[in-house]
Amino acid sequence: MNIKEKKTQSIIRRFDLCKSITKSSINSLLARYSIDPTVITDNFQSLFFNQPSQSPSIIKWHITSKCNCDCIFCYQHGLGEEDLKTSHINTITRQICDSKICFVVLTGGEVFLSKDIFNILKSLKKHRKAVIILTNGILLEEFSNEIVNLGVEQLSISIDSHIPEMHDRFRNHKGAFEKILKGIEAIKKKRNGGRPNIAIRAVILKENIQQIEEYINFFKDKVDEISFAPLQIPFSENLNCKEINLNKEDGIKLKKIIAGLEEKFSFFKLPYYKLMPQFITDPRALLNNNLFRCMGYSFILTIKNNGDVFLCPHMKKAFEDGKIHFNARLGNVKHDKLLDLWKSKRCFLIQQYLKSAKNKCICWCTTDNINTEFAGYFKN
Ligand SMILES: C[S@@+](CC[C@H](N)C(=O)[O-])C[C@H]1O[C@@H](n2cnc3c(N)ncnc32)[C@H](O)[C@@H]1O
Ligand code: SF4
Ligand code: SF4
Repeated sequence: MNIKEKKTQSIIRRFDLCKSITKSSINSLLARYSIDPTVITDNFQSLFFNQPSQSPSIIKWHITSKCNCDCIFCYQHGLGEEDLKTSHINTITRQICDSKICFVVLTGGEVFLSKDIFNILKSLKKHRKAVIILTNGILLEEFSNEIVNLGVEQLSISIDSHIPEMHDRFRNHKGAFEKILKGIEAIKKKRNGGRPNIAIRAVILKENIQQIEEYINFFKDKVDEISFAPLQIPFSENLNCKEINLNKEDGIKLKKIIAGLEEKFSFFKLPYYKLMPQFITDPRALLNNNLFRCMGYSFILTIKNNGDVFLCPHMKKAFEDGKIHFNARLGNVKHDKLLDLWKSKRCFLIQQYLKSAKNKCICWCTTDNINTEFAGYFKN
């Protein structure tokens, strides 16, 4: 086959794959959320055919840096900068509401410490945006009425152990575990038709790695979804927790644990989990063998608490040789419009850069299953 024929074949395969992935992903999203599928289709097309898209499907918004925990591993330590004023928060909310963006992930810090959270939620829900909240769960009981009545689609609650003292120690907040359980019960009592969906996620650390099965057994009848993410140091140069980081031996342990759990809990068969041990033992090999590629940013735009807009706020810190080659900041909402930043040449170039795996950084987030699902397709 000559080069031209090879290229044509590759485009045809891309087109078929794009169609089938788009169809199945959109069907599964439509089954869960009432969203407009056109933006997601546009993002998939952009990913597969190297063309700019008109809008992100998802906004990840760190609405505050305030927090009522002090987790030893938190990559947000040093987020530091002042939160935006309410007037700027309202501007962002309005821009999202007036756009075709489908999903808004609200995170922090701790979102329920923001004085603006319920106004943001009211507006987003009025405009039928699907809202997912990442929370440490401590204030869930206190705000359970608002959360249920406003129609939040999903709560993603961090719980790192089923042993109360251990969770509280990781989070540096005595009584956190009990508060979360009470909060979950309060939401379950009040919710209608399973909304909000209650998902929990644990950070895997040295100390809890052997407890994965007990953790699942403890929570499986209490919540709707469970997921795990490994501790990730490269996210923050300010982290002072090298000694709790996972090493090669932990990766080998995790491989055995996951293999042993696959038959009992089918989600462990996902590439995200199958490849997680290798992320710990030999992350470079995942990149070199086209098993990982950072693709979430064909869909997601991130806003930090000070209004800075990024594709990935961690990217510049994640380069292996420690040099900052690239600052992935796109602008700031105080003087730039979100969609202008998304449609900018700079944004498109960074997406292309990520897709070609030139970035060399690698990280493992539950929301980014896509990074392992289609990586092989974009072989260099
Ligand atoms: C930064 S927090 C913000 C939301 C909320 N405060 C919470 O803890 O859920 C978002 C998620 O990142 C996780 N996380 C924080 N630091 C991490 C790290 N170094 N490695 C992996 N996950 C981390 C948290 O456990 C949480 O699930
Ligand atoms: S609760 Fe969340 S934001 Fe707060 S310190 Fe812990 S991980 Fe960081
Ligand atoms: S792999 Fe992707 S998400 Fe992780 S630091 Fe790099 S650009 Fe960011």
